[in-house]
Amino acid sequence: MKNIKLVSIWNPKGGQGKSMLAINLAAASIEIGIKPMVICQDQQGTSINYFREGNLNFEVLGEIPQEKPDVDIVFFDHQASDWEVPSTHLLVMPLKPARDQYATYIDALKRAKTKNKEVITVVTGGQAHRKSEKSTTAYLKEQGAFVIPSSGVFSRASEDYRSIFDSSMNKAYKVGERRREISKILGAILLKQSDNSQN
Ligand SMILES: Nc1ncnc2c1ncn2[C@@H]1O[C@H](COP(=O)(O)OP(=O)(O)OP(=O)(O)O)[C@@H](O)[C@H]1O
Ligand SMILES: [Mg+2]
Repeated sequence: MKNIKLVSIWNPKGGQGKSMLAINLAAASIEIGIKPMVICQDQQGTSINYFREGNLNFEVLGEIPQEKPDVDIVFFDHQASDWEVPSTHLLVMPLKPARDQYATYIDALKRAKTKNKEVITVVTGGQAHRKSEKSTTAYLKEQGAFVIPSSGVFSRASEDYRSIFDSSMNKAYKVGERRREISKILGAILLKQSDNSQN
């Protein structure tokens, strides 16, 4: 049986971009011929709601399936306030660069590091005109983080429960840049060693 790559999208702070990344990384996978699945581990069911609207070309489940699914990669969309470090080896941690949100990210990152997790950090949005956010973003970028600048395409897509890769978004302002950023993060994920034995 083929190995399924397992990726947890995790940050205990709410509203950091976990569901946005889960949906859009899965959509980016389809673009390059990789079959994804999202498992929504959030009782609010954000990513499940996307699936119910019927605009996604991949599956979102509300729980871990009994049988091994026929997919190449699984993205676990975690819920806010979940401080337990996920069991997958690879974590994607989104954060917005405001001070208190950065502090939560650092706390969570420390926990992840004590468990020897591989972490990909993604700065999602933030207010570039604020000096402290700008310098936090620059610092994290220097440390290897990916950056997805604040952009209206995400709210536009999410209003319709679509990914930004949906063809209805083709003419949205700077959608090409945002798609490339998401695809780059997917590329980094695919390069990392997956360790299914831990899940
Ligand atoms: N780069 C960005 N630019 C603009 N808006 C963004 C960006 N990234 C995420 N958002 C928006 O931020 C909001 C929160 O994102 P999302 O719901 O994915 O966070 P979350 O971490 O899953 O939250 P929760 O912990 O409540 O599940 C959404 O409205 C999303 O569209
Ligand atoms: Mg969410």
